[in-house]
Amino acid sequence: MIDFDQQDQANHPRLDTPEFQKLIEASLSRRQMMGAAGVGLLSFLAGESLANSPTANTATGPIIGFQPIAANSLDTITLPEGYQWQTLASWGDAILPGGVAFDKQTRGTAQSQSLSIGDNNDGMSFFSLGKDRGVLVVNNEYANYEYLFATGKCQSLEDTRKAQAAHGISVFEVRKVAGNWKLQPNAPLNRRLTANSNMRLSGPAAGHALLKTMADTSGTQVLGTFNNCANGQTPWGTYLTCEENFNGYFGSQETLADNAVFKRYGISARGFGANWFPFDERFDIAKNPNEPNRFGWVVEIDPMNPNSTPIKRTALGRFKHENAEVVVNADGHVVVYMGDDEKGEHIYKFVSSKKFDRKNMASNRDLLDDGVLYAARFSSVEGQAKGEGEWLELTHGKNGLTEQAGFKDQAEVLIHARLAATVVGATTMDRPEWVAAHPTLPQIFVTLTNNSDRGVKPNQAVNGPNPRAKNVYGQIVRWSPMNGDHTARTFTWDIFVLAGNPSKHQDAYRGSANVTADNMFNSPDGLSFDRDGRMWIQTDGDYSNAKAFEGMGNNQMLCGNALTGEIKRFMVGPVACEITGIAFTPDQKTVFVGIQHPGEKLAPSHFPEGGDAVPRSSVVTITRRDGGVIGT
Ligand code: FEO
Ligand code: CA
Ligand code: CA
Repeated sequence: MIDFDQQDQANHPRLDTPEFQKLIEASLSRRQMMGAAGVGLLSFLAGESLANSPTANTATGPIIGFQPIAANSLDTITLPEGYQWQTLASWGDAILPGGVAFDKQTRGTAQSQSLSIGDNNDGMSFFSLGKDRGVLVVNNEYANYEYLFATGKCQSLEDTRKAQAAHGISVFEVRKVAGNWKLQPNAPLNRRLTANSNMRLSGPAAGHALLKTMADTSGTQVLGTFNNCANGQTPWGTYLTCEENFNGYFGSQETLADNAVFKRYGISARGFGANWFPFDERFDIAKNPNEPNRFGWVVEIDPMNPNSTPIKRTALGRFKHENAEVVVNADGHVVVYMGDDEKGEHIYKFVSSKKFDRKNMASNRDLLDDGVLYAARFSSVEGQAKGEGEWLELTHGKNGLTEQAGFKDQAEVLIHARLAATVVGATTMDRPEWVAAHPTLPQIFVTLTNNSDRGVKPNQAVNGPNPRAKNVYGQIVRWSPMNGDHTARTFTWDIFVLAGNPSKHQDAYRGSANVTADNMFNSPDGLSFDRDGRMWIQTDGDYSNAKAFEGMGNNQMLCGNALTGEIKRFMVGPVACEITGIAFTPDQKTVFVGIQHPGEKLAPSHFPEGGDAVPRSSVVTITRRDGGVIGT
């Protein structure tokens, strides 16, 4: 979601000002004083760290066979030679009975939107239904009011209901017909989940006083999900959707008393301007102060049963969830890795109490209700681009999580997980976005997209995995659980890539040795591995192609090799879009990719239809002309 990033960037000192140069020099000179330590950030930048990686000399990783492409600022999708794309599904495409074709003038009503694909598609998963057939489950993160409404504003209850229907999740069947994947309107598994769909809270916090409202005195029945960012997929066949910037939808006309919890979660009378609270009292926090506590969760959905009730899994903690990467540990415990996307927030993992049972899939359905949540602490010697780390348990009564510290019970630890992570001493990170597990190596990667507060706010001093002040480019950090055991309390970490601009900088802002003038990018966000271990990196960054970002063009998707550090640009998106969301068919001959908000803020895009069409967020299919495996 670029909005907040851009707000941040508006507050940055420009990279080319003397003030900023001083900040960089101050940050670097401390590192240079490491002197004889020699193996610090500067040697990492020279490429030594990758060469010293324990796996670099034992294998060369997957084949990445395509010819990389140049950056550009075109209003289309650009792919390597031999690849092709098609639009599969766009905001406003009808998927349910009674739905109508997208109306370019009105852009639909609350009713038509509730029967059609939502706006701003983000994370997604593909559930195969056999050869050439499957279900795509796609998050609809937020709505671009500049296109959703002719007036550009939410000004009535009808507008509010339409915006709420543009949020949530779209579930739709796709089939390959005459070689092309096609959306199947009205297929039996098609479904819309919106900000008004019935959902259930489960796990340790369900039913707690902080989750009770006037409308739900049980504290277990919630209406809806929204700001669904990225996702996860469980080995028992369910989809996980992650509630991210839920805070901004709440507001009030009344003045609110100071509240440390609201402050930490960014909840204020002003909101982000979604403007639901004047028309829908549920979003007025003066009237419903507990309603925000019912959002900020990971929600589990069964895509094979359109009548099933989605379940908010409170054991996974409440924060601005980016995605939920599910790993089954060798001993059967299910581990979920998660990032909290805000400047200076944390990385978490959940370890299930019970074990995954491959032979009895139904028995796995509530594995995410019972387990231990942890937050990550990264240790480092100043100037080193690698180190050790520890998972800190977020369990009531341990690590200072007591009533005196503000946590009456485990439910409060989970509902206020951010505050609990601070109490235990978790490391503040540069906006954790997607976490992705390598399919065969015990290595986990996280995109740390950018952080204008790094080195500026007192609680966000530069540290090992977040080594640059005023970090406008972002980095991807990797960790390896001790002995390959995902339930272990300790890990080692290093930096896979520091994004940067080698044409503009000679210091740490040029990026690591695997960043060149030919593959540079900023603000890595989406991150996923294919079955062969190719790392797919999607960006949500500054697409001005100017100043610090000159040479980077539009947002893009790149392909990386975890073993060698190689990174090649695979795709460039249209004007003012974010690339987010990726899902492969089992044969890896088709990849579904999300193009989010082309033409945001009225930038000149008409993607995907061209001409004078309204730009529409879309899922596209990418295939090879020769029918081969993507990326090889
Ligand atoms: Fe929805 Fe952090 O991206
Ligand atoms: Ca994201
Ligand atoms: Ca982002």
